[in-house]
Amino acid sequence: MCGIVGAVAKRDVLGILLEGLKRLEYRGYDSAGVALIHDGKIERSRTVGKVNTLVEALKKAPISGSTGVAHTRWATHGEPSVKNAHPHMSTVGDIAIVHNGIIENFAELKEKLIKKGISFSSQTDTEVIVHLLADSWDHKAGFVDNVKKVLSKLKGAYGLCVIHKDYPDQMVAVRSGSPIVIGYGIGENFISSDTLSLLPVTNRFSYLDEGDIALVGLDNVVAYDQSGQETTLVIEELDSVKDAASKGRFKHYMQKEIFEQPEVIENTFSSGIFEDGDHRSVLVERFGANAKALFSEVEHVRIVACGTSYHAGMVAKFWIEKYAGISVDVEIASEIRYREAVIPKKSLFVTVSQSGETADTLAALRQAKKKRYLSTLAICNVANSSLVREADLSFITEAGIEMGVASTKAFTTQLTAFILLTLSLAKSQNQLTKEKESELLKTLQEAPKLVKKVLSLDKEIERLSMDFVEKHHALFLGRGVQYPVALEGALKLKEISYIHAEAYPAGELKHGPLALVDRDMPIIAVAPNDMLLEKLESNLQEVQARGGELYVFVDHAVSENLNIAAKHSFVIEAVPELIAPIVFTIPLQLFSYHVAVQKGTDVDQPRNLAKSVTVE
Ligand code: G6P
Repeated sequence: MCGIVGAVAKRDVLGILLEGLKRLEYRGYDSAGVALIHDGKIERSRTVGKVNTLVEALKKAPISGSTGVAHTRWATHGEPSVKNAHPHMSTVGDIAIVHNGIIENFAELKEKLIKKGISFSSQTDTEVIVHLLADSWDHKAGFVDNVKKVLSKLKGAYGLCVIHKDYPDQMVAVRSGSPIVIGYGIGENFISSDTLSLLPVTNRFSYLDEGDIALVGLDNVVAYDQSGQETTLVIEELDSVKDAASKGRFKHYMQKEIFEQPEVIENTFSSGIFEDGDHRSVLVERFGANAKALFSEVEHVRIVACGTSYHAGMVAKFWIEKYAGISVDVEIASEIRYREAVIPKKSLFVTVSQSGETADTLAALRQAKKKRYLSTLAICNVANSSLVREADLSFITEAGIEMGVASTKAFTTQLTAFILLTLSLAKSQNQLTKEKESELLKTLQEAPKLVKKVLSLDKEIERLSMDFVEKHHALFLGRGVQYPVALEGALKLKEISYIHAEAYPAGELKHGPLALVDRDMPIIAVAPNDMLLEKLESNLQEVQARGGELYVFVDHAVSENLNIAAKHSFVIEAVPELIAPIVFTIPLQLFSYHVAVQKGTDVDQPRNLAKSVTVE
């Protein structure tokens, strides 16, 4: 999941490329590099670490040029090192390329090239592409034809951008499995892995389709589709895009995104609810024009996702089964891809993803489309993502761009979307009275206010986080629908603070994990006001009896009744059962955030991770 940016202009583009890279760092940040055509030669600079290291290196040894490509890397083949950093160049230095994705047959191609006497300077799969280009380059053929010839030899997924010293005002971009956007300026054009990186220079974009190849010049862009036919690119103008690349008054993107949740949850549900006086109804068409007819036929739902999005799917299972009476299974995308999973009759295949580009989720959707599912639906935060384009139905969450690698607002808006899906399914199947539908939607509308109340516990949670700085392990407990919330809490803590954390449904404790409980093992539990509270209470007493230190987030309505002496208990405003998973997620996010800040880790870009995982 690397980030690519390229520019063709009449001015020096180094600054544009570096700013673009900084905005792409969420895709990877192991190393970075840039190559520019200058006076008939390609000059290059590469460094290990974040883009700022490259910026500093370029201050000491500047390069310049009006056409160039740049890259920020998340290592797959070969460790993060200068040699493995992109751009990669041909041996004589006439071609430079940047690549996002994986070339699966690179070993075989490399062997053939080595036999021809070509030597490699990196361990990457990408380097084979540049040597293949150089090896077969025909000076009589055009730029695009030379690139096309090589693409036919590559197996795998790639977004690619190529520059050649003989074409000082052009670059070639290719999309095959990894997104590429073209940005249009006046007398200058750009390419990137996403629009965000180009917002300082343009708001006019085209998205390459799978298999498209584009020749990008100063005044024009010519694109060809998979079959080699010239294709028209539709230019979209993004109006008044809120620039997410600013932290505002916050210290970290993650913190800003946690605090944005009341607003983005509201944005997500408001377009899905119709209010007529005191009555509220869900707009099933928000999922697609023919959603109502399709939903009326659904007999089974299969939810497929990765990471945090998978946890959102796990919560949704409880809601859909309870309110719509439809059975649900939830699968990890990288697992179901390689299993002969039985497809129940009239099953709706639902993918959930913040980015809409996660390789395993996308592959699972593509597989599902070939199988006999009733239909496919994508719940996604990026409207022009591959997932949304390829699914039959879609729901765009309104979280806005999420920059922190650890997902926060994307998760709670996914949960919001799932409540609307649950009610849409129940309504289409006549499982919901008008009164109940209105009542549940009213409850959903309370979520922003309750989330805001929990956010006001920030300082208290910050104090609690100090207890955890020296800890090496933590156990999260929840029951029922709160078990996935506990899983998400544990995931947040390990992602950004590097503390080993596990989550268990509290009833499972005595079947093994109880053996881990002692004074050094903090236990964090979520205790909402639901039918499982009493059961949870007994589980927590089991922990207490073994000397475990308890930290409990408890609903105000039951805080008095909970008969345990927690080291810390945090009382949360009384929360209706429907939205408890949304509200109880917030203190766990704040908690992980503050532990990470106390420990001094890189909150927004934790080690070894990337925001958008576009490789398998
Ligand atoms: C990465 C991110 C996670 C995210 C997961 C799935 O691992 O770091 O935050 O939950 O990918 O991504 P998606 O974009 O499909 O939700």
